Amino acid sequence: MRKIDLLQAPFLKEMVATTTNLYRLGWDERNGGNISYLLTEEEVLPFLDIQQVIRRIPMIFDATQLIGKYFIVTGSGKYFKNVIDDPAANLGVVRIASDGRTLELLWGLENDAVPTSELPSHLMSHIARLEVDPENRVIMHNHATHLLAMTFTHELDEKSFTRTLWQMCTECLVVFPDGVSIIPWIVPGTNEIGEATAAKMKEARLVMWPYHGVYGAGKDMDEVFGLIETAEKAAQVYTYVQAQGGVKQTITDENLWKLARAFKVEPRLGYLTE
Ligand code: 13P
Ligand code: ZN
Repeated sequence: MRKIDLLQAPFLKEMVATTTNLYRLGWDERNGGNISYLLTEEEVLPFLDIQQVIRRIPMIFDATQLIGKYFIVTGSGKYFKNVIDDPAANLGVVRIASDGRTLELLWGLENDAVPTSELPSHLMSHIARLEVDPENRVIMHNHATHLLAMTFTHELDEKSFTRTLWQMCTECLVVFPDGVSIIPWIVPGTNEIGEATAAKMKEARLVMWPYHGVYGAGKDMDEVFGLIETAEKAAQVYTYVQAQGGVKQTITDENLWKLARAFKVEPRLGYLTE
């Protein structure tokens, strides 16, 4: 059957629009940031001959739980600003091979490009999130400026960091009731940082990498983008609040509880006083 040009695929258009938007916001300088988007076979079939493997790419970790799954991913060392002009050079569609340790390239990553160096963190996070939410499909990493800055100035205690963000915008508790988790500083691109991130992803959809950036997870691109955008906005407000001389008054825990009840969300256990 004749295939439709993959550049017409809705998931490709989403990746292009999102990377462009992230670059515009300044959260993905140079090659900073990466995205992986879990696709169903039905989604890729109109565009790809799934028997045609262009290249096999070894991985440094075991993704057995994702065997046969399809992802569109950003390439390693690729600049988000360039994705719109040349998606096939900067993005790739891959499938996890039956050994769990090889990627089968089905489209893109032209000129011997490889998927993001953060693939261990992405795929391990997909595994962790899928256990909690079978609808989870997107993992996004970027260098959101104010969140990153906060890892230098705010104590790196998950509860305290989360509470500060919840207090900066009334919407925050509603958007990320599970809060923000934080891992220690670890060398990026390693299995170690992947394992630490994935462990945190079991309890929260936002994970901070101190002095580096943020990870977000969710069921679609808009949800994950909106999640990081909301936390980043709160971090920006925090920056202004600090610059204006610090907090004089804030949203009380009593009010945060009222908010949680009104929007039917469950704040992370123990993060608000009863
Ligand atoms: P990649 O270019 O390999 O995706 O790495 C970018 C990055 O942000 C590393 O943390
Ligand atoms: Zn990074």
